[in-house]
Amino acid sequence: MNIDSISDSYQFLKLNLDNRILTLSIDRPKKLNALDLTLLQELDDATSNIRQLKDFPLRGLIFTGSGEKAFIAGADIGQMSKMSPLEAEHFAVLGQKVSLLIEDLPFPVIAAVNGFALGGGCEMALSADFIFATRNAVFGQPEVKLGLIPGFGGTQRLAKVVGRNRAKEIIFSGRNLKVEEALEIGLVLKIFEDKESMMNESRATLELMSKNSPLAIAKAKKVMNRGNDLTISNGLELESEQFSQLFASQDMKEGTGAFLEKRQAQFSGK
Ligand code: HXC
Repeated sequence: MNIDSISDSYQFLKLNLDNRILTLSIDRPKKLNALDLTLLQELDDATSNIRQLKDFPLRGLIFTGSGEKAFIAGADIGQMSKMSPLEAEHFAVLGQKVSLLIEDLPFPVIAAVNGFALGGGCEMALSADFIFATRNAVFGQPEVKLGLIPGFGGTQRLAKVVGRNRAKEIIFSGRNLKVEEALEIGLVLKIFEDKESMMNESRATLELMSKNSPLAIAKAKKVMNRGNDLTISNGLELESEQFSQLFASQDMKEGTGAFLEKRQAQFSGK
């Protein structure tokens, strides 16, 4: 799989590649980018293909929503209302698969949230490494208002990001959080006045990171993501294993060599 074979002919996704940074926009603005089955299948296809790319042709992903009103206003309520328990299980498992694919991409991912990030939208944002948001962003897990619970990872990831009891309060109340509160509790990393400045800063952040060794970033991300589910001793064991593997890489030779020779490192990701 190479970068040119990533399809850009989706019904509900827009992909834009610029200087090794991919912007993936959910493009169903009339329904506030609500995730129906077709959209989730497209996200599965796109993220699976991105995941298979070799040799770091991509250095970062900006995950966002088309239009000014919403990142993603949740899973499609009309479609869910007609699902059998078995269909609902498939739907949840597919969304969880997509969230894991995004979470484990071997480069930094920013969820750039403009407007509503509710239910499945908040859950998809939680699968990114960082959430940037505009002043009008609104977060929440309103599923219990519909007689449901979060099903794309929210019961697990929200608790890990903001703490279990705070996550319970958010999920049991189903209330909306303004962006300032989302920042205060560590859900959002940075707030921007408008979408344009958020997108510019997302790109600048990823370009800054892309000057570093992509191999080292991929390993740091892997160790930190996996470490989240491990005991401290197992996490440390994984850390020293991945740390030592880098000593067989060209990137490590280049990075340390460039420092000693007082020049800028040029990393290959090998
Ligand atoms: C289907 C949705 C939708 C959704 C919005 N729309 N959210 N359609 N599913 N989640 C549609 C509306 O029906 C409407 O379509 C159009 O988008 C514009 O929305 P409005 O409601 O007219 O806009 P507004 O008055 O500005 O209100 C915005 C809103 C509201 C507050 C975000 O739309 C809302 O409460 N949406 C639902 C949010 C939600 O409960 N999300 C969680 C879903 S459960 P028409 O055709 O009428 O113009 C979930 C579970 C995940 O995500 C796990 C699954 C396994």
